[in-house]
Order: sequence, then C-alpha cells, then structure tokens
Amino acid sequence: MAVRTALIVGASRGLGLGLASELAARGWRVIATARGPDTSQGLRAIARESGGKVTVESIDILQPAQLVALAQRLAGESIDLLLVNAGIAGARDQSVDTVTDEELAHIMRTNAIAPVRLARRLLPRVKEGGTVAFMSSRMGSVADNQTGGMDLYRASKAALNSLTRGFAATAVKDRVIRVLTLHPGWVRTDMGGADAPLSIEESVRGLADVLERGGSPQHQFLDYTGQELSW
Ligand SMILES: NC(=O)c1ccc[n+]([C@@H]2O[C@H](COP(=O)([O-])OP(=O)(O)OC[C@H]3O[C@@H](n4cnc5c(N)ncnc54)[C@H](OP(=O)(O)O)[C@@H]3O)[C@@H](O)[C@H]2O)c1
Repeated sequence: MAVRTALIVGASRGLGLGLASELAARGWRVIATARGPDTSQGLRAIARESGGKVTVESIDILQPAQLVALAQRLAGESIDLLLVNAGIAGARDQSVDTVTDEELAHIMRTNAIAPVRLARRLLPRVKEGGTVAFMSSRMGSVADNQTGGMDLYRASKAALNSLTRGFAATAVKDRVIRVLTLHPGWVRTDMGGADAPLSIEESVRGLADVLERGGSPQHQFLDYTGQELSW
C-alpha cells in the first residue's frame, strides 16, 4: 500500500505530538507543525528518531501570513489526512460576566475560526478520498451540557462544531473528502491535567484507529473509541 501522508497542525506537545508519533509508528509519513523553534523540541526529537517519516513545519494558526506561507511551502504535497489539533483552554475565569474582549477573541479565534480557516486554505492539498479532521471536545456538545462550567471553552468548541458542519456542507461539497469532528476523551496533557483518566497513548491509539477506519461519508462527531456524539 502507498505510504499515506498526514499533516498535523499543533503537534508540539500533548495529543498532537502523540498522534504524530502514533501515525509514524503505523507507517504514515507525518508533517507535524509547531509554532516555532522554542516550542518544538519534543517534536524535533521525534522527527530525528523517525528516520525521515516525521518532518517539522511551523505555523501559529492565528497569523494569516504564516498560513499563506505554509500553503505555499506545501504546494507540492498530496495529503491523505489533515488534522487540525491546535487549541487552548482559555482564561482561568470563564465567566461571561467578566471575560475581556481580548480573552474572548483569543479563545474564539484559536479554537473556532483559525482551524476552519486553515482547513479551507489547505483543502486543495488534500487528495480525493482523504480526511479533514478537527480536534473538538465533548464539551462543545450543546446537547451534552448538563452542568455548565468552562463556559467559554465550551462555546468556542460549540462554534468549532458548527463551523466544521458548514465546512462539510460547503467547502468539500464537490469533493470526496471525509470530514470528522473529534473528541479525544479526557486526557492527561497540559490542558487535561493530571486527574484525567486517559493517557496520551490510550487516546491517540483510539483516535488513529478512528482515522484509519473507513466510515460514513457523512460529517460525524466521534470520540476516540469511534462512538458518535450528539451535537
Ligand atoms: N486533553 C484533553 O483532555 C482534551 C479533551 C478534549 C479536547 N481536547 C482538545 O485536543 C486538542 C489538543 O489538546 P491537548 O490536551 O494536547 O492540549 P495541549 O497539551 O495544551 O497542546 C495544545 C497544542 O495546541 C497548540 N496551539 C495552541 N495555540 C496555537 C496556535 N495559535 N497556533 C498553533 N498551535 C497552537 C500548542 O502549541 P504550543 O506548544 O506552541 O503552545 C500545542 O501543540 C485541543 O484542541 C483541545 O481542545 C483536549
């Protein structure tokens, strides 16, 4: 079988780094991005040990000029999987009463707008039959929200879910491309914290299975076990 190529955006640490490692171990060629040399040491170590399977690119998804430059550098690529993983938890105070305009813009731009803008820009690089996946969260499910808490993070991921639906309905309309919105489980990363039940390895193994498995051509919201979640 031909070697498949994945582009993972936001792979300096946590789940993105874990997925770069897992997919490379499964034989994929992986182009993995970090924001710059300061944040990519773990990724560079994996790239060094990968025998050329993992290469490092750089982008801060909030910088439009960097997106243009990345698209140009990847002009010759034919990508099987584009996974937009980058995301933030946002300010400690997640109250709508006190959030500043700046904090609100930062979390909405990072978690909702920039991932879909990036996917739209890089879509021509994704081959027919390929997959575009977005790392969302169960916390972005409106139907599943019985408790509140982390309200701005939830709202940003709900916005991402909605924008990914729009992306699936419009941008890939005339293409054979699978669009997935993913929940990795609650995972022990810098964001998930030490109390999370899942290790990075457990989550990325499940996510890689979901990404490698064929499935419905419909846009789906799936967790790391392949279970469909309600929007
Ligand atoms: N951990 C969980 O339990 C959990 C649960 C549900 C969903 N998620 C989602 O899974 C994804 C990864 O989470 P994680 O737990 O691995 O978080 P993490 O350890 O905090 O890593 C976040 C990643 O996103 C990158 N990033 C943030 N802002 C960026 C920007 N402007 N441009 C480019 N890259 C940027 C970070 O790069 P730097 O190193 O440069 O900061 C880092 O690589 C996120 O979208 C998160 O919302 C996580």
